[in-house]
Amino acid sequence: MKILFYGTKNYDEQFFQKLLPEYPGISFQFIEANLCPETAPLSSGYEGICAFVNADIGTSVIEILSRCGIRLILMRCAGYNNVDLASAHTHHIKVLRVPGYSPEAVAEHAMALALTANRHTHKAYIKCRENNFALNGLMGVNFYHKTAGIIGTGKIGLAMARICQGFGMRVIAYDLYPDKKLDFLTYVSLDELLSFSDLISLHCPLTEQTHHMIRQETIEKMKDGVILVNTSRGGLIKTSDLIAGIRDHKFFAVGLDVYEEETAFVYEDLSERILQSSTIQRLLSFPNVTITSHQGFFTEEALTNIAETTLQNAQAFMNGEELKNEVTG
Ligand code: NAI
Repeated sequence: MKILFYGTKNYDEQFFQKLLPEYPGISFQFIEANLCPETAPLSSGYEGICAFVNADIGTSVIEILSRCGIRLILMRCAGYNNVDLASAHTHHIKVLRVPGYSPEAVAEHAMALALTANRHTHKAYIKCRENNFALNGLMGVNFYHKTAGIIGTGKIGLAMARICQGFGMRVIAYDLYPDKKLDFLTYVSLDELLSFSDLISLHCPLTEQTHHMIRQETIEKMKDGVILVNTSRGGLIKTSDLIAGIRDHKFFAVGLDVYEEETAFVYEDLSERILQSSTIQRLLSFPNVTITSHQGFFTEEALTNIAETTLQNAQAFMNGEELKNEVTG
């Protein structure tokens, strides 16, 4: 089975090539171009394609893939909000994903962002390198004995909740489907979570229901001086309202691994370019905002698990076996 691997980075190829010999009958062609309407025709002659969070897999791309004979979309990630599932279903294209490659990788990054945004370690590092050992601008707050509010207690939210508990925080959570087995945290309503939490970390998927769940109305319900962290999806936060909230001094700090508009930048080195978007520049201009480039997943363990599960998904499809990681809607 021939699979075209879109949007290849050197680390993708390295981790997939290491495991490919264990999967006879499956071959990958790695290309740097990402999937979009212009590059979708390259899939002609392949049975499947492999794509990531930053690919465009909307209606028009699915139609082109279908005309090219594609029967399988292998998402090498957990999220699939960038895939038009209805269209894939109409064109009899199976969509498989990697549901949980390393929840701890993302949760540990969420805590790293929370700590960096809070204690300004990124600034302290630069200052000390410049022989500036003064502490002005570096004051943070303790997490110990504060309240962490986790929105979405799936695999990553649970890992983050455990980390927060380890920090000596009281952990409260909001989820559409509370997990009764989690006895170390307390489920509350979304409004209660917003009003009680000192640290809010977002871990629910981006759906129609969660789109812009953090907006003016919900920001107003938060405690003054709250720390907000988003490692889930940019669309959970209405950026213009977040910027207004930051200007109103609502937030002690904000840590973002994901943000609206990221698709145009993420995983690209644009350091020599003049960016046309003003939103990201505005966010970067605030002293209490720390941004990373959708790297929550980026650990050796996670990349190994992603390659392994993606290859298992391809093998199951090839052998006509049960597709346990199929996304149906
Ligand atoms: P999961 O499916 O295990 O958990 C999601 C949880 O959110 C579930 O408990 C679900 O009941 C809950 N939920 C769904 N709708 C909700 C709503 N309206 N309100 C409150 N809770 C709701 O997913 P997992 O593996 O924990 O991943 C969470 C998200 O993290 C993914 O959807 C993805 O967007 C993001 N992610 C980010 C990565 C990064 O590199 N920054 C890497 C991997 C995932």
